[in-house]
Amino acid sequence: MQVLKRSVYCGLVDKNLLNKEITLMGWVNKRRDLGNLIFIDLRDNTGIMQLVLNTEKSQELINIAQEIRQEFVLAATGIVTKRAPEAVNSKINTGEFELTVTNLKILSKSKALPFQIDEAENVDEELRLKYRYLDLRRKRMHDLISLRHKVIFAIREFLNSKNFLEIETPLLSKSTPEGARDFLVPSRLQEGKFYALPQSPQIYKQLLMASGMDKYFQIAKCFRDEDFRANRQPEFTQIDMEMSFIEQDDIINITEGIFKNIFEKIYNKPLNLPFARRSYQEVFSKFGSDKPDCRFGLEIQDVTNLFEHTELKFLKSTIEDGGKVGAIFVKNHDFSRSEISNLENFAKTNLKVAGLLTLKITDSKTIESSVAKFLPTNFILELQKFIPDTKSPGTIFIISDKFKNAWEALGRLRLELGKKLNLINDNEFNFLWVTDFPMFEWNEEEKRFYATHHPFTAPKDSLDTKNLENVRAHAYDIVCNGEEMGGGSIRIHDSQMQSKIFEILGISKKEAEYKFGFLLEAQELGFPPHGGLALGLDRLIMLLGHTDSIRDVIAFPKTQSGICPMMQTPSSVDEKQLQELNIKVNKKQV
Ligand code: AMO
Repeated sequence: MQVLKRSVYCGLVDKNLLNKEITLMGWVNKRRDLGNLIFIDLRDNTGIMQLVLNTEKSQELINIAQEIRQEFVLAATGIVTKRAPEAVNSKINTGEFELTVTNLKILSKSKALPFQIDEAENVDEELRLKYRYLDLRRKRMHDLISLRHKVIFAIREFLNSKNFLEIETPLLSKSTPEGARDFLVPSRLQEGKFYALPQSPQIYKQLLMASGMDKYFQIAKCFRDEDFRANRQPEFTQIDMEMSFIEQDDIINITEGIFKNIFEKIYNKPLNLPFARRSYQEVFSKFGSDKPDCRFGLEIQDVTNLFEHTELKFLKSTIEDGGKVGAIFVKNHDFSRSEISNLENFAKTNLKVAGLLTLKITDSKTIESSVAKFLPTNFILELQKFIPDTKSPGTIFIISDKFKNAWEALGRLRLELGKKLNLINDNEFNFLWVTDFPMFEWNEEEKRFYATHHPFTAPKDSLDTKNLENVRAHAYDIVCNGEEMGGGSIRIHDSQMQSKIFEILGISKKEAEYKFGFLLEAQELGFPPHGGLALGLDRLIMLLGHTDSIRDVIAFPKTQSGICPMMQTPSSVDEKQLQELNIKVNKKQV
């Protein structure tokens, strides 16, 4: 039998191939049977080409063509012909042509599909992921996976040009404190002991600097057992970097260079550099978040002093208890009663605050509000001093609580208002560096400090202070459109400082020695000053690909409950495997 060999991709047929014989291979996207003519849309990863079979010509072709169904895999040889003007399909690249088939072979058949490929978006996600290879046949998914490849390629190219070495680090590793639970792997040879899958290659990359490697990067798999969100996966990828003898500005420049290269290579678009830089303190007080979406305004205003002497008891008592009052003013928008009531419900249910107070300014002299009668007569003039914009009509939304809670709630209200009022430009990429994060975060439940970034980050301020919460870290995040794209820091390279930080974090000398003794020792054997950053690759592709689910940009992601419905992972294992590992599973196996 004649062996057919693909000569052209379906989507690449053009006028140069007119009247030539070619062989295409691909999947049946659609089949239309008009009796004496059968049309087949053949699809591969470059696009679609229409095949036409004239059934009057060959009995053999008729037999094959009648058997063909959707998603069969075919090889088709024929002559490229021009379609009649009325049959031209301007929606596809090859729409002016069709292939008049002379030889056709079914390479693989398909049963009835569990869902129609082009309707995958509307089916249950678990079913889509069970048949992920069918879901991935969609053009949108091909585009996202191909974008991912191009971005990785552009990053490798750029970092190579800056003398970075790509170095792989182990997956069978030891726990590194990045703030999540570890995934553990039992060891057979070292009975009763476990490896941890890395939450990031943090310590390895620091040790590569101690090895004199100077500039490292890795497209690194990271594993974190944490609560799922739309932008999180238990297994995700970082563009992980580290450099020696550098300062924060060097890391920022390299990272901006990566983005510039991506935009130039993939979108052929220049990117305005440098990106804005703001301190954590500034962004938190203006936007109630450490990853603000700066595509729109609606900044939070501190109006605590304005309400200190009013008759509004609930605000007064919050202030007396050390709380704060924050406000967002929306100028020149007349909210309807139902809009206000929806926002009040949103605040109560989603923001976990006691309430949302609204004051409507109808003109520069009048305030409409359920609490208007409790406000002093000169209130509007005082208000205008705090928020000069309130000389115009508009609505003020007010939340009071402990500073952090109130501002976080206002930050989320701000995002809700931004969406509701259509203030967000979907086509804008608004990059921002957030710097000077606090070094430590106090955990009230556990009565101990945690490192805001990680315990290897160098402090920017002296640790000889009564209030450790005021100490700033040498840490920075890169944020785009309200999403944390990456984070990094200048590291500690001195074992005394490292031990001091462990001590503040409540890690005993014994525990520090057991967990990080190798690092403390390396810091005593000639460790260069160094720093780095890791970008979340999956989040970056989500952003560039305009999708809001991280699962869309990963070929084989896990569901929200950490399952792969296709392979049925995680799964039970043979009793023999467990015996070899000396592991007993208590829970009844399903
Ligand atoms: P960090 O923990 O901030 O830093 O992680 C860096 C970036 O990784 C992405 N990211 C995730 N993406 C998807 N799913 C997850 N579960 C997930 N968790 C984090 C985010 C984040 O900004 N070792 C340090 C980096 C350094 O200091 O150099 C680290 O891992 O985009």
